[in-house]
Amino acid sequence: MKDLISLHDLTNEEVKDLLELGIKLKKEQKSGIEHHILKGKTLGMIFTKSSTRTRVSFEVGMTQLGGYPLFLSSNDIQLGRGETIYDTAKVLERFLDGIMIRTFDHQDVIDLAEYADIPVINALTDLLHPCQVLADLMTAYEHKGRLEGLKLAYIGDGNNMAHSLMYGCAKAGLDCAIATPDNYQCDSEVVANAKDDFKKSGKELIITNDPVEAIKNADVVYTDTWVSMGQEAEKAERQKIFMPYQVNGELFKHAADDAVFMHCLPAYRGYEVTEEVIDGPQSVIFDEAENRLHAQKAVMVTLMK
Ligand code: CP
Ligand code: NVA
Repeated sequence: MKDLISLHDLTNEEVKDLLELGIKLKKEQKSGIEHHILKGKTLGMIFTKSSTRTRVSFEVGMTQLGGYPLFLSSNDIQLGRGETIYDTAKVLERFLDGIMIRTFDHQDVIDLAEYADIPVINALTDLLHPCQVLADLMTAYEHKGRLEGLKLAYIGDGNNMAHSLMYGCAKAGLDCAIATPDNYQCDSEVVANAKDDFKKSGKELIITNDPVEAIKNADVVYTDTWVSMGQEAEKAERQKIFMPYQVNGELFKHAADDAVFMHCLPAYRGYEVTEEVIDGPQSVIFDEAENRLHAQKAVMVTLMK
């Protein structure tokens, strides 16, 4: 494993190892055990999109590991003025020990990883969000005591979260159901890859436009914003089309009685989820947010130590 670009690239074993390491690092941090495993190392963090959780969790994580996080906004570096990904990669590898990047075009992250001799971590593209899903799997494990055999239902837009959740579920042994409106389905190449992964793991992937079918008996219910970063112009139209996919009390009743509710955040209450669900007793959204820290520390240790 040189990079973390997509969970599809990882073996089931590699995903399991990352989750186990994340749990171990969390335990150490909670008991005040210092772990300066990346002492003297520097992580460059390129952002061409906004972030609260990702930026803070990577910066704090790198600091807790004894390393140095360097925030690089695309407004400030030459990449934002048209310097090539190739030149950026070749220059940054001379200074840094790893690069984390959040950007629009997934191909840019693939190219960066190909050109740079140092590890590259995908911190969200329009296509995928693997770091979030590692944190989500860790959270599901903490709340359910297992991952194997659980059912995760994702209701909403066929976006980066839906894609990475499919890959993550297949690798970690969960069944997965995705419900999206007809014209907002998941990327067909991702679905084809995911189907292969599910076949290998012997678990089920359901793709439907019926939220009730998807959520039926689910152990984990997941949604995400209907308007991802970069789609702001489509906001009004999307809010109308997606309303039947809102995760509200009525829909949530079809999930398993002890189902947990998850959301990568930021959330828009009254749209993709109602207050009664996201702020209710079965919501674990802030555990997920915290686990970004621990799961990503596991990624950085694995790739950069
Ligand atoms: N979930 C997530 O990636 O949050 P941010 O956009 O705040 O980083
Ligand atoms: N789908 C959302 C996820 C935010 C963490 C987006 O891409 O904006």
